[in-house]
Amino acid sequence: MRLSVIGCGYLGAVHAACMAKLGHEVVGIDVDGAKVAALSAGDAPFFEPGLPELLAEALETGRLRFSTDIADAAGSAVHFIAVGTPQKRAENGADLSHVYAGVDALLPHVNAGDVVVGKSTVPVGTARDLSVRISEACPSVTLAWNPEFLREGFAVKDTLEPDRLVYGLDDAASGAQLILDEVYAQALAGGTPRLVMDYETAELVKVSANAFLATKISFINAMAEVCEATGADVSMLADAIGHDARIGRKFLNAGLGFGGGCLPKDIRAFMARAGELGADQALTFLREVDSINMRRRARMVDLAREVCGGSLLGQRIAVLGLAFKPNSDDVRDSPALSVAAQLQLQGAAVTATDPQAVPNASRRFPDLAYTASVEEAVQNADAVLVLTEWEQYCALNPMDLRALVARPAIVDGRNCLDPVAWRDAGWTYRALGRPKAA
Ligand code: UGA
Repeated sequence: MRLSVIGCGYLGAVHAACMAKLGHEVVGIDVDGAKVAALSAGDAPFFEPGLPELLAEALETGRLRFSTDIADAAGSAVHFIAVGTPQKRAENGADLSHVYAGVDALLPHVNAGDVVVGKSTVPVGTARDLSVRISEACPSVTLAWNPEFLREGFAVKDTLEPDRLVYGLDDAASGAQLILDEVYAQALAGGTPRLVMDYETAELVKVSANAFLATKISFINAMAEVCEATGADVSMLADAIGHDARIGRKFLNAGLGFGGGCLPKDIRAFMARAGELGADQALTFLREVDSINMRRRARMVDLAREVCGGSLLGQRIAVLGLAFKPNSDDVRDSPALSVAAQLQLQGAAVTATDPQAVPNASRRFPDLAYTASVEEAVQNADAVLVLTEWEQYCALNPMDLRALVARPAIVDGRNCLDPVAWRDAGWTYRALGRPKAA
């Protein structure tokens, strides 16, 4: 099939490459000429395992190309809208300007029978509004809402082998369902469940899934606060409650909390939308989810101050990890970067490193000192902080590191280190939600 993907950011670039991998002929369209040039040359503008190989293969076969010209969408049977919906400035709601601009630019180039497919995360009600706009301009073109559930770091796998496919349709009898089935034939043949519903439910599936995940993380972080007050251990607690299949161990890792380009902005936009709909009371708990999450960052700064003897002034702090999570170079709303910046503001001399995120972090906070390696970062440090649980940080050898630091004090912001091993090697080990000493 011939497909167009409007918006080649994280979601769009991955989606376009994966659709080409499935055998479709795909054009990815973006207004950003630099992004289009990079993608056309096979360079992913962000770090995502597996994507460079996929791009190279798809460009080579000629099934994938990128363009800045929206007229190149003409001739495609399906047009995916994959533009960003960032948080509005100084407001909690989502900024939908790119969605509307993308659809308006596309409509002069669609043909009768085409399907426009929304993938962006939008406030409930957006799809219905867009479908009216589309049918007024092009009565024979239909809109489907097909939210995306990919995780950064696993984006290729999540797109090629999704947990489920959700189709939000206005009229289940329309041809849109059959066309989407053809697009996703491979996943459907592999047994991926396909759920067909109305627009509003499909939009809500996406934001409620993210709200649930954020709530699960803040739940365990709230338990971490209680553990800190009692001397209990939140990691053991999570293991024990996670054995109950109704609870499950996934997304119960206590620590610095959630960040990134999705969970924080999505729960805020969801609350804002519920308020507009007169259902604000239903989501007041999400305000608490957000507060618990932000409190973890402040607690991390407090722990760093504590291991530095009560003051951060002039203390040399090594920060390991800047990305919002491992296997990513994304520092949007990154708890790690926010803690690093806060420590520097409070008078510490921070030296930070990350396997992938240093370029993005240094653009955002040029005042921090950045190094390429852990060894350089921890040189003469008064405290070492692990803020993103990259595999190589979890595997650090406490003995080797001890020889490099000025004071062997480590704060584990992600509960990813073995407290016994670090204490046995002579380190002061502190963590969020774990007791001061065994
Ligand atoms: C999230 C969702 O997991 C995806 O399903 C969704 O498609 C995506 O948002 C989106 O809306 O586009 P992502 O932002 O890539 O994906 O990251 P997650 O893996 O969900 O992690 C989010 C944050 O939660 C990270 O900062 C991570 O460190 C933190 N986290 C995760 C915890 O603090 N504890 C956990 O147990 C799990």
